[in-house]
Amino acid sequence: MMREAARPAPSLILALESSCDETAGAIVRDGRGVLSQFVASQVDLHRAYGGVVPEVACRAHMECLLPGVDKLLRDAAVAPDDLSAVAVTNRPGLIGALLVGVAAAKGLAMAWDKPLIGVDHIEGHIAAAGLAEPELHAPYVALVVSGGHTNLYLVPEDNPGRGGMERLASTLDDAAGEAFDKAAKLLGLGFPGGPRIEAAAKDGDPEAYAWRKTCLPPDGTNFSFSGLKTAVLYAARGRAGRKGPLLLDEKGVADAAASFQEAVAHALATRTMRAAEECRVGWLALGGGVAANGYLRNRMREEAAKRGLRVAIPPMSLCTDNAVMIAARGAALYDAGVRDGLDLETAAR
Ligand code: KG4
Ligand code: ZN
Repeated sequence: MMREAARPAPSLILALESSCDETAGAIVRDGRGVLSQFVASQVDLHRAYGGVVPEVACRAHMECLLPGVDKLLRDAAVAPDDLSAVAVTNRPGLIGALLVGVAAAKGLAMAWDKPLIGVDHIEGHIAAAGLAEPELHAPYVALVVSGGHTNLYLVPEDNPGRGGMERLASTLDDAAGEAFDKAAKLLGLGFPGGPRIEAAAKDGDPEAYAWRKTCLPPDGTNFSFSGLKTAVLYAARGRAGRKGPLLLDEKGVADAAASFQEAVAHALATRTMRAAEECRVGWLALGGGVAANGYLRNRMREEAAKRGLRVAIPPMSLCTDNAVMIAARGAALYDAGVRDGLDLETAAR
């Protein structure tokens, strides 16, 4: 007689995330109930340099992680003994920053005698979409757009373990978030670029510059953002390049920001819809810091609705780096029986 597999007991996962410039922790029950969490942003530390400085990031992670864990346990009223496992981002990211989080997680797992689970940061961003939309189910196409990545994946059915996703497309050069950050710098808008461009674009005309095609390389599949960056450079500083004075007034900056945002959203939506049609899926998932962009979120929803596709987009706080998404992915791996040892490795890519 066939017996239905027993549903595993609800897990209680403590997760750490330190892959870039946010130190984050969370305690999550059964992959979706957030008992406590923190995100310590380092934006103010890196602003003076106009970008993330790995050495500065590592030091800040070291200072924030263990006090953060103390606070997580107190806020959740959880004792280490109650935990099912410690999950930690172990790839991809800044290698030194990852090492700080992984070393802390190993120490905690050893001291508390709990299993350790390494989580892929990109799979974490995709898990955040599932938190937002419990009905999301594989197969689906996932777009991960952040400061380090611009990738389209097919998430197949029966994919509880690791590495089951198929990469369908990626950027040939800069990541979309990186392009936002660089364009903001060229337009004199400062750091971090994404939210600054979005704010400036509100008063601009997205049709002012015809930049849409620059992000769609002729291969029909991938993305490219370096040509758009050059277009913004020429509009903002002329052929004199980076060192030239800003040639645009306030309205000109707004128009360039709006046209830039339109070009990025158009490329991301075009390729994602095409992938969904080719893979014949009914669901789309969006994740990563750039998915916090309101203009992109609207465009994706509109284009998906036209095609009868459903789309899962995390709330903004779960788009940018956080540990709730790492706990959610960690819980899925835990339920699938994945466990790592103290030899868990970190990888930049
Ligand atoms: O996922 P994330 O927090 O870190 C990485 O894994 O890279 O993404 C950070 C990126 C940055 O490039 C930032 O400029 C971008 O996400 N970003 C945005 C917005 N908020 C953050 N891009 C566009 N619009 C936004 N509102
Ligand atoms: Zn990220």
